[in-house]
Amino acid sequence: MTKIQPKLILHGGASSLDDKGGLENVRQSLHSIVSQVYQLLENGGTAVDAVVLGCQLLEDEPRFNAGTGSVLQSDGQLRMSASLMDGIKQNFSGVINVSRVKNPIELAKFLQTQSDRILSDLGSAELARELQIPIYDPLTEFRALEWIEEWKGNFQSKMGRLIAQPSPEAGRGTIGVVTLDSQGNIAAGTSTGGKGLERIGRVSDSAMPAGNYATSNAGVSCTGIGEDIINECLAARIVIRVGDGMDLPHAMEKSMAESQKNQRDLGAIALDQTGVITWGKTCEIILAGYHNGSTIGDTLEWDPSQLMGYCS
Ligand code: GLY
Repeated sequence: MTKIQPKLILHGGASSLDDKGGLENVRQSLHSIVSQVYQLLENGGTAVDAVVLGCQLLEDEPRFNAGTGSVLQSDGQLRMSASLMDGIKQNFSGVINVSRVKNPIELAKFLQTQSDRILSDLGSAELARELQIPIYDPLTEFRALEWIEEWKGNFQSKMGRLIAQPSPEAGRGTIGVVTLDSQGNIAAGTSTGGKGLERIGRVSDSAMPAGNYATSNAGVSCTGIGEDIINECLAARIVIRVGDGMDLPHAMEKSMAESQKNQRDLGAIALDQTGVITWGKTCEIILAGYHNGSTIGDTLEWDPSQLMGYCS
C-alpha cells in the first residue's frame, strides 16, 4: 500500500486571543502541540492515537477551555464533555458533563471499544472510578476568579456570555483535533468545559456528532455556541457533503454560508482523505494550527472577513 502523507489540524476555540495570553503565546502553544502530534503521525501512529494525544495536550493547556482551565457553570461547578470518532470504523464515543478527571478524552478513547459508547455524568464518574483514573481538580485560579466576579455582580455583568454578546469571549471555548494518518485513516476529537454559566444538565455539542464527526472521507471538529452548532448539525453536515461528492473546501464554504445566514456563532476545522485541510467560521476568529506535511501554519492572523480558508 502506498504510504500517505499524514496531515493534521487542531483548534483551541473561537474566542479572543487577549484572555489567552495574546497572539504569540497562543501561537507557541498551538505550534508546539501540532509538532508533538505530527511526530506521532510521522512515526506511524494511528489517526485515533494522534487525536487522543492532541486532545490531551490541549486539555492540559490552561489557556484553553477544556480539561485544566475549563469554565465554571451557573452553580460554580466544572463539568466537561469530550468525544472521539474513528472515521474508518465510523465509531463515535464520548462523555457528557464529567467532573474531577484530568483528560475527558481518555474516557472517550476507552469507550471506543465498548457496547455503551456515550455516557453522561453519573456513568462517566462510575467509569472513571472503575478504570481507577486518579481524582483531579481541573479548576484554575483564573476560572475561579472569573466566576466569583460573575457571582459578585449577581450574574448580570457578563450574562451576555450565554448569548454570545456583548463579551467577545462569549462561550466559544473548545478544543479539537482532526488527523489523517499514513494508512489514510481519519479521526476527530473534541473536548470542552462548555460555554460557561450554563444551567446544570445542559449538554454540549462537543459530545455529539453535530460537534465532532468523521468517516473515511473527512473529519470535522467544531467550536462556538453549542446550540448553534447543534441547530446546523455542523460537523456531520460538512462530512456528509464530502461523502456525497462535494469537495471539502466547497462543503465548508456552503455550510458556513448557511450558518451565517442563520446567524449562528461557530467555527470548524476539517480535513479529508486527499489531505486537504480547511477551517471556517462565522465568528471573528478561530484559533487553529495545522501541519500540511511540510510546514506548520495557523489561522491566527487570517482575514477576519473570510468565511473559510484551506491548504493542501
Ligand atoms: N461548543 C461548546 C459548547 O457550546 O459547549
